[in-house]
Amino acid sequence: MDLGIRGRVAIVAAASTGLGRAVAAGLAAEGARLALCARQAERLEQAAGELAETFGAKVFARALDVTDAAAVERFVAATAAEYGQIDICVSNAGGPSARPFAQTTHEEWRAAAELNLLAHVSFARAALPQMQRRKWGRLLMISSVSVRQPIEGLVLSNAIRAGVLGLTRSLANEYGRDGILVNNIAPGYTLTERLRELAAARARNAGISIEQAQLEWTRATALGRLADPKEFADAAVFLCSERASYITGQTLVVDGGFYKGL
Ligand SMILES: NC(=O)c1ccc[n+]([C@@H]2O[C@H](COP(=O)([O-])OP(=O)(O)OC[C@H]3O[C@@H](n4cnc5c(N)ncnc54)[C@H](OP(=O)(O)O)[C@@H]3O)[C@@H](O)[C@H]2O)c1
Repeated sequence: MDLGIRGRVAIVAAASTGLGRAVAAGLAAEGARLALCARQAERLEQAAGELAETFGAKVFARALDVTDAAAVERFVAATAAEYGQIDICVSNAGGPSARPFAQTTHEEWRAAAELNLLAHVSFARAALPQMQRRKWGRLLMISSVSVRQPIEGLVLSNAIRAGVLGLTRSLANEYGRDGILVNNIAPGYTLTERLRELAAARARNAGISIEQAQLEWTRATALGRLADPKEFADAAVFLCSERASYITGQTLVVDGGFYKGL
């Protein structure tokens, strides 16, 4: 299937490693031009260089923190100046601290809201007018399976990310007539650095080994295994493509059957 996004300009946030990087690779493989960001410049430049070399892609990269709304606005404006258009925006960030409620501070709640809700707002605010101008766009927010099934010890993710669902639906309704699709994609347990951090936190809190923590998650999936980031990226790239043209306001859970609801 031709996904129909050759030459499209795609922003992927928090993309030097993990899910963001896998999505950037998937988009580059389909011929998209990329604009990437993450905080650590060196690791970002390395990722950008590797993606350019592997896929022959154009890659614009800028180091920034996605919780800095002004920096996000400048990055999106610089991307539009560089390429003349923005068609796809995949908003993403790191994950919040993994703690049970009693151990969280008010400051951590504020930081989680900045990281896992307001960063999506900043990218949407900056990118949507660019898409409106050309009457075509794909806004995709990366959240977590915690938006469907709260995860033990991750109250910040469970509570804050739920707002992404309301944001997705609202923006889908407000911008549908501009030819812009707005969706949310919710990863389950996927083999990235974040998962290793979570396994270490779970092991500490439950008094088990890191291997046992990972085994618990593996057993909780229908497929009996954790995901490769590329499996997540394939679904994300589809939602960013021409072929997803009648899908908007949705949350796609990519979790190997971890979520057990109907
Ligand atoms: N992997 C999973 O199993 C899983 C499951 C559910 C949800 N999620 C969520 O999906 C998102 C991505 O996860 P991941 O597994 O890809 O994480 P990861 O492997 O830790 O990668 C995070 C990426 O985001 C960048 N980043 C982190 N904080 C940032 C910030 N404030 N501003 C800009 N860039 C930032 C990192 O680079 P720098 O450090 O250089 O900034 C890195 O490139 C997270 O919100 C995570 O909680 C992941």
